[in-house]
Amino acid sequence: MSAQSTGPFRIAPSILSADFARLGEEVRAIEAAGADLVHFDVMDNHYVPNLTVGPMVCAALRPLVQIPIDVHLMVSPVDRLIVDFAKAGANLITFHPEASDHVDRSLRLIRDQGCRAGLVLNPATPLNWLDHVMDRLDIILLMSVNPGYGGQSLIASTLPKIGQVRSRIEAHRAAGGQPIWLEVDGGIKVDNVSALAVAGADTFVAGSAVFGAPDPQGGYRGVMQAFRGALSQ
Ligand code: DX5
Ligand code: ZN
Repeated sequence: MSAQSTGPFRIAPSILSADFARLGEEVRAIEAAGADLVHFDVMDNHYVPNLTVGPMVCAALRPLVQIPIDVHLMVSPVDRLIVDFAKAGANLITFHPEASDHVDRSLRLIRDQGCRAGLVLNPATPLNWLDHVMDRLDIILLMSVNPGYGGQSLIASTLPKIGQVRSRIEAHRAAGGQPIWLEVDGGIKVDNVSALAVAGADTFVAGSAVFGAPDPQGGYRGVMQAFRGALSQ
């Protein structure tokens, strides 16, 4: 976690809302401003109706920043890209379980490549996908919008779901299990981050809230200060 981070909370700016013509500069700027992770949204025009960036862009960004690259795969199938993104320098890799033929195998593959592994659940995806793989998870990512686009509004049913996942994580810890981050992604703004934290999230993806600002570093700092204030209440 960086020196300027929120403490027990992590902010992961999503490059989806960045200026892709100046991606290196923008990612460096948010790291300098104190971002804990950089969130890298991979869309394939198959699992989701949008097309973004692949491992070559991840490899190009890797030497520019020290912070972990958090790759969110919105692709189907997943295994080949897990290997390619690990080689490209990803540190965390998450995927949507319904996009994998063998969820357990895909999770093992991520860790075998030296990365931290996670599942992503869409707003209407049930929690029972977690039932038999808790030991294999370093992170659970709950979507608070339907995936595919930045700049959407948060879906309110995410809030009780965060609490349910937090309870599962705490029960897993109490039984001797490993720590698991609880990340939330989509529609996160200054005015809802506090409620998401109270519900049990510890890692917040923010795309348009950071990169929608004219200057991403200023945008990040503004969001960060507001997040700090909200999270300390
Ligand atoms: C949506 C992506 C999100 C998105 C978040 O499919 O997974 O990471 O970029 O963007 P905002 O913060 O604008 O909702
Ligand atoms: Zn994402």
